[in-house]
Amino acid sequence: MAYCQRFFISLNLYFNIKSMSVLITNIKELLQVRDTNVLKVSGSDMKILPTIKNAYIYMEHDTIVAYGSMQDLTSMEADKVIDATGKIVLPTWCDSHTHIVYAGHREQEFVDRINGLSYEDIANRGGGILNSAEKLQNTNEEDLYQQSIQRVRKVMQLGTGALEIKSGYGLTVEAELKMLRVIKRIKKEFPIKVKATFLGAHALPKTYKEDKKGYLDLIINEMLPQIEKEELAHFMDVFCEKGYFSLEDTDRLLTAGKKHGLTPKIHVNQFNAFGGIALGVKHNALSVDHLEELKDEDIQALKGSNTIAVALPSCSYFLSIPYTPARKIIDAGLPLALATDYNPGSTPSGNMNFVVSTACIKMKMTPEEAINAATINGAYAMGISNQYGSITRGKKANLIITKPVPSYNFLPYAFGENHIDTVIINGNIL
Ligand code: NIG
Ligand code: FE
Repeated sequence: MAYCQRFFISLNLYFNIKSMSVLITNIKELLQVRDTNVLKVSGSDMKILPTIKNAYIYMEHDTIVAYGSMQDLTSMEADKVIDATGKIVLPTWCDSHTHIVYAGHREQEFVDRINGLSYEDIANRGGGILNSAEKLQNTNEEDLYQQSIQRVRKVMQLGTGALEIKSGYGLTVEAELKMLRVIKRIKKEFPIKVKATFLGAHALPKTYKEDKKGYLDLIINEMLPQIEKEELAHFMDVFCEKGYFSLEDTDRLLTAGKKHGLTPKIHVNQFNAFGGIALGVKHNALSVDHLEELKDEDIQALKGSNTIAVALPSCSYFLSIPYTPARKIIDAGLPLALATDYNPGSTPSGNMNFVVSTACIKMKMTPEEAINAATINGAYAMGISNQYGSITRGKKANLIITKPVPSYNFLPYAFGENHIDTVIINGNIL
């Protein structure tokens, strides 16, 4: 520890960074401690959550430097010491699937669904994604940024320390770029880790209703080159679904995205299973997301691949659609991540604590599996698990300190309550 401290002090003097060191002591249980750099956990390994009881953790600036059992803590020196008696400490949530940048809300559609319309009925009469696209097109960039950062602040307070954010409510060149520039600004101005995804193929805009090829051409010839030029995205997503984009469309789009340096991800198997997962695997997609409808051949396709399945239980909850069959996925030896899908239509909530609870209650995931899915596997689904998602020396200082709780099982068990006392993101105590 002494060597590490000296190393970081000299590094900070070199870069003239004002280093702030934080020591958390008397931690009832420190969760997700992984000494070696595990990038994801799969199958029965997801049941294992490595912990240290009666622990300490020491961080300098934005980095985890040391941790261990309280008996082994020799020096108590730090700029700030936090006594965590009775409290649990875990890595912040990694939310690998959100549409947190949007304009306005769609609570009327929520009421329409209560009164009997389906998500599909609403989309077919021009509501849904097209409703949000119209609102976003009529909102200026500054206003869109201001609306979106209120939600970003909220999810940070709820313990999210890394966030994937998609475009896809623009659906014109101008509005898609506006969304992506807002995401880029959030990335620059907030301590939370942000990864941007281009989802121009989220729905067919009204102006291209009879000309799908025209819209695909627009994405490929106009949007993608500009996105690459301004370095606006890391990933490329497509809503591969009946009534949205077919397997052929998705294939063409992901191929084009890759030529512009974008790694594929897919919204797939939300309402219908027709081979999109195998297509994702063929493209070496980083993740395939939703999977509420899942066939045996989809499981087979995922086996042996680098593609991770991402379940979005608060979307199932809100739309009253089936939950992703987590047991089937995990029991087949595969990895699974959990994310919110925060968006104005199918999931107006970015609360990862609720996601973890719902995964345990409705998907029969154990608390260990759900915590693994929402931390290290979420980080993997964003391609950042070498720096986020676990308590590991050298990883980013992103931590949740809970209120006093009897055990970590209590977190998903006592659902709907806020168990968080303090959040630390990139070394900043919120
Ligand atoms: O992931 N399924 C596609 N996209 C979003 C919902 C979009 C919307 O309704 O605005 C989702 O659920
Ligand atoms: Fe989504």
